[in-house]
Amino acid sequence: MRNKSDRITEVIRDHWDWRASTFDDETGHGLFSDEQRQAWLDLLARLAGRAPRRVLDVGCGTGFLTLMLAELGHVVTAIDLSPQMIDRARRKAEQASLQIDFRTGDAVAIDCADKTYELVVARHLIWTLPDPQRGVAEWLRVLRPGGRLILIEGKWADNEAVARSYRHSRLIARFTDAAAAVLLRSDAALARTLLNRRYYGVEAQLPFSGGPTANRLATFLEANHVQDVVVEPLMDPILWAGESEFPRYAATGTRPPDPLLVDTAPDSRASTTGKSHVYDFSA
Ligand SMILES: C[S@@+](CC[C@H](N)C(=O)[O-])C[C@H]1O[C@@H](n2cnc3c(N)ncnc32)[C@H](O)[C@@H]1O
Repeated sequence: MRNKSDRITEVIRDHWDWRASTFDDETGHGLFSDEQRQAWLDLLARLAGRAPRRVLDVGCGTGFLTLMLAELGHVVTAIDLSPQMIDRARRKAEQASLQIDFRTGDAVAIDCADKTYELVVARHLIWTLPDPQRGVAEWLRVLRPGGRLILIEGKWADNEAVARSYRHSRLIARFTDAAAAVLLRSDAALARTLLNRRYYGVEAQLPFSGGPTANRLATFLEANHVQDVVVEPLMDPILWAGESEFPRYAATGTRPPDPLLVDTAPDSRASTTGKSHVYDFSA
């Protein structure tokens, strides 16, 4: 029987599946010019260091970082919860004749041995996770000691605003769920769109919903055993195909040597809020 956590994962996966076909058309996600592409290649070459390294791109989406890291000569594995995202990423890699190991999988339960990778990267992923703490622990597990973690994130909305807009749409969500059930046979695409409203109920409760500020993420990473955390603003408009109206940054750090990565009691800052998260999945 599916438990609550499985149902939440399913809603999250369906949401990203639903967005896959238009994801690359959105500014802030896709690539729109050679100049933008070159700016990302330069940034990644600097952050990732000399190739070839064994790299894992978690929550790879349509392969934005994945393809460029492979192009830079790294040996890349890429995973995503959404089969539709992986499908698109795989097709793009085939078109570019790049060898990449794509897998459908969960960023917080990765199917690989400890200490497999020299570099773990994730762009715009941590805010999507119901349990980011578990995510970071998993990324440190698969990194070799001294290996590098690179998170590219931004802070585009405050969590309260996301939660407020969800509360207002809660009744509508109940109505659209019922309508979707009726439509499923006659208009599957519209039914999926309506069902996607369930995601907003989950999104409003994600610990980093709206994206973490750079300070909050840096404190969180340090409290979760990531060493040498450095934050670098990424505000060059070329990277985002236009001026970004909110802060964007890269947070990097390293996996400590084995004796330091032990099961210590979590620092109070290690959780995202200081309290445990209970998801209300009623809508
Ligand atoms: C905002 S998109 C970012 C995609 C890509 N990293 C990029 O920068 O274009 C978030 C991605 O994370 C994926 N995702 C969400 N939760 C995940 C999980 N638990 N495990 C793996 N991927 C996940 C989604 O399917 C989606 O592709």
